[in-house]
Amino acid sequence: METKVNCTLRKAHLTDLKSIRNINVASLPENYPDSLWKVLLTPKVQWVSIIDQLITPLEQWVAVINSGTRDEKIVGYVISVIKTDNIYVRETYIWSFAVLKEYRRMGIGKSLLQQLQRETIFPITLNVRKSNLEAFKFYCKMGFKYKKLLDPYYENPDEPGLIMAWDLQKPLSTTTKV
Ligand SMILES: CC(C)(COP(=O)(O)OP(=O)(O)OC[C@H]1O[C@@H](n2cnc3c(N)ncnc32)[C@H](O)[C@@H]1OP(=O)(O)O)[C@@H](O)C(=O)NCCC(=O)NCCS
Repeated sequence: METKVNCTLRKAHLTDLKSIRNINVASLPENYPDSLWKVLLTPKVQWVSIIDQLITPLEQWVAVINSGTRDEKIVGYVISVIKTDNIYVRETYIWSFAVLKEYRRMGIGKSLLQQLQRETIFPITLNVRKSNLEAFKFYCKMGFKYKKLLDPYYENPDEPGLIMAWDLQKPLSTTTKV
């Protein structure tokens, strides 16, 4: 993993729940109860129905600095699920994704997303707030394309959402400079 800090990726465990929840709350208006985080952090459970969608959580990934030391700290995560609307349409959907503010623009988000791009067997989709230009630019850089406007979509605050997608056929973006 090439980032501008000494950072490694590892699979997330249930014991990472609090750190992931804290990054989520600090980074995004879409927050979830611990009961939902537990489902999301338990890969390969049976299909679960959440908000009228049938999903199954994948193995999740976290970015860690000072790995293996007493100062180990989770600084980013990507949470994804396989989503199906019917038996023919399946996609890897990014449920939540964030890097702590003080660790952004160091290549950590790119490494997390590339991990998902490497392992997915379905196209990757996500929704992003229309005003979230930083994330929109990041996803464009990572090869995602804008697909559709959802209006209305988000609440608190109310705002349209953009569907973005990454096609399995597309090459991965080039390596991050250190
Ligand atoms: C989106 C997010 C995860 C990106 O993580 P990151 O670790 O900062 O991203 P990286 O450092 O790997 O960026 C890779 C490239 O994406 C682009 N990029 C990233 N952030 C950008 C920004 N704010 N503006 C423009 N381009 C940006 C750049 O090309 C960057 O490469 P460079 O720094 O060498 O120019 C992070 O900004 C974040 O946590 N945002 C808040 C939560 C959020 O919006 N999540 C997405 C919800 S859908």
